[in-house]
Amino acid sequence: EYTQIYKTALPIPPKKEPKYKITNPVTGKEIWYFEIEIKPFTTQVYPGKKPARLVGYDGISPGPTIIVPRGTESVVRFVNNGDRESSIHLHGSPSRAPFDGWAEDLIFPGQYKDYYYPNNQAARFLWYHDHAMHFTAENAYFGQAGAYLINDPAEDALGLPSGYGQYDIPIVLGSKYYNADGTLQTTIGEEDSLWGDVIHVNGQPWPFFNVQPRKYRFRFLNAAVSRNFDLYFVKANAVNTKLPFQVIASDAGLLERPITTSDLIVAVAERYEIVFDFSKFAGQTLELRNLVDANGIGTDDEYLNTHKVMRIVVSSGAVTDNSKVPAALATIPFPPDSTGIDHHFRFHRTNSEWRINGVGFADVANRILAKVPRGTVEIWELENGSGGWTHPIHIHLVDFKVLERFGGDRGVMPYEAAGLKDVVWLGKGETVLVEAHYQPWVGVYMFHCHNLIHEDNDMMGAFNVTKLQN
Ligand code: C2O
Ligand code: CU
Repeated sequence: EYTQIYKTALPIPPKKEPKYKITNPVTGKEIWYFEIEIKPFTTQVYPGKKPARLVGYDGISPGPTIIVPRGTESVVRFVNNGDRESSIHLHGSPSRAPFDGWAEDLIFPGQYKDYYYPNNQAARFLWYHDHAMHFTAENAYFGQAGAYLINDPAEDALGLPSGYGQYDIPIVLGSKYYNADGTLQTTIGEEDSLWGDVIHVNGQPWPFFNVQPRKYRFRFLNAAVSRNFDLYFVKANAVNTKLPFQVIASDAGLLERPITTSDLIVAVAERYEIVFDFSKFAGQTLELRNLVDANGIGTDDEYLNTHKVMRIVVSSGAVTDNSKVPAALATIPFPPDSTGIDHHFRFHRTNSEWRINGVGFADVANRILAKVPRGTVEIWELENGSGGWTHPIHIHLVDFKVLERFGGDRGVMPYEAAGLKDVVWLGKGETVLVEAHYQPWVGVYMFHCHNLIHEDNDMMGAFNVTKLQN
């Protein structure tokens, strides 16, 4: 049992500096060149026990945060000095297919690969993580995940709380199991899910975070293997009263307008950004918690402290805070209206194997499950065909609009509807309709369940964005 709850300060992943910057002679744009080494490191999780040996980007986990301005291209060289093969996916980027982290496009120990990213999207919170065939869960769990931020002048002009690590804080969530000797348990051999009993924030189990009585922007990323979170804030001495906050952004960046809520479902791989105003809580202690109950979103195994995430200690005395949350945040490029269902995908289990429409990713001959002419708008129907499980579904390349959720307890959440997404959870018995504009590139891309145990056990397919035929 972990006894050090709320004893260690929240670590902030360091910002990664480019090794150099050059001007692209063709486009005239700047290209920033980064180098990241995948390498082993140790971390002392349990005092008095063995350190845990992990393998992370630049030997830390989460990896360093890459921050680039919109329109600046980047090349990231990933040098693999880890234990086994890797493939790196920049989740949220419409990367060209060769740079998208295709599961079989592997870099083995001693090799490197240069990934090219266009960064031409509006400001958003992306993340880079491993995507190696059958080892995504193990590699990501042992440390291969990090934040990647694109910023832009339109967002900067809004006056939101800012300053990376100061008032703009990444909150990368994880959930893990450790062995009795203090080392991290493997995921290999797991076929169902890996829920974890130790909640991590930025790599640290149950940290505390000191804040000033003012507004903060928190960027939540659920980087757990299987656990979905339902986050809420309380005062430490009034844990039954959830405190309101404003959701300002999701997977594809800013929402149309802030959505006020007092709890927020963040399924695996989803990003949500919020502004929390601590000005009314000077001198008080708050907690960020995780709702665990029977109506939760499909995390089956709960433990002594899985309802706790982080303690927040607000300093006393007033401070000046010029940041604000405007009533209108952004114009969202929602795809044009379309009707009819273009593809139906059923996420289910057959003979203890995870499948999409009966096909697993290892089934090379059949795994391209859709052909979509480039530039078309399609509606995909994603059906949870597996009873009690929740599946967070990620479609590469595109941003989608969540049109409808039916068949279960919930509809589309207001914070899901106010922006574009690249992951959507299918709760128990639920079916979700998503609409996307299949652009800008042609190529074969993956889509899959982001419960990494399901993904590695082949709940993954591909779609081919083809040339328009005339
Ligand atoms: Cu976040 Cu296909 O991955
Ligand atoms: Cu799944």
